[in-house]
Amino acid sequence: MEWKESFTLGVKPMDDTHREFVDMVSHLETLPDDSLLAGMDELVEHTAAHFDQENRWMEESGFPPVHCHTEEHKRVMQVMRDVRGHVAAGDHALGRNLIRELPEWFATHAATMYTALVWFMQQKGYVPEGATA
Ligand SMILES: [Fe+2]
Ligand SMILES: [Fe+2]
Repeated sequence: MEWKESFTLGVKPMDDTHREFVDMVSHLETLPDDSLLAGMDELVEHTAAHFDQENRWMEESGFPPVHCHTEEHKRVMQVMRDVRGHVAAGDHALGRNLIRELPEWFATHAATMYTALVWFMQQKGYVPEGATA
């Protein structure tokens, strides 16, 4: 998975987390079967923290379509945890399918959910922790 300039939203803690996500998916793409489960565990842990952080910003800034975005986070976490379980049971192919789909999911999520959220936070003058003014 490669970083695209269109992923840069100008909110530092968000961009930093997304870069970590992209790096993690790129790393997962290279892992052999016997390391895939450990890699999936890292991804699940990182993504849970990533989504919690965004959910908190949406709550704090009063983002109106908060449910649409948090529901998608919930759905993605469920899929990731479910697939992680299958990988643990030896189904590496399913894990690889998920990893293959993540770049497209992320690009769509960034173009829709994140563009709206960043615009809204800027309108409200809401600055998340760790963001440089
Ligand atoms: Fe995100
Ligand atoms: Fe998100």
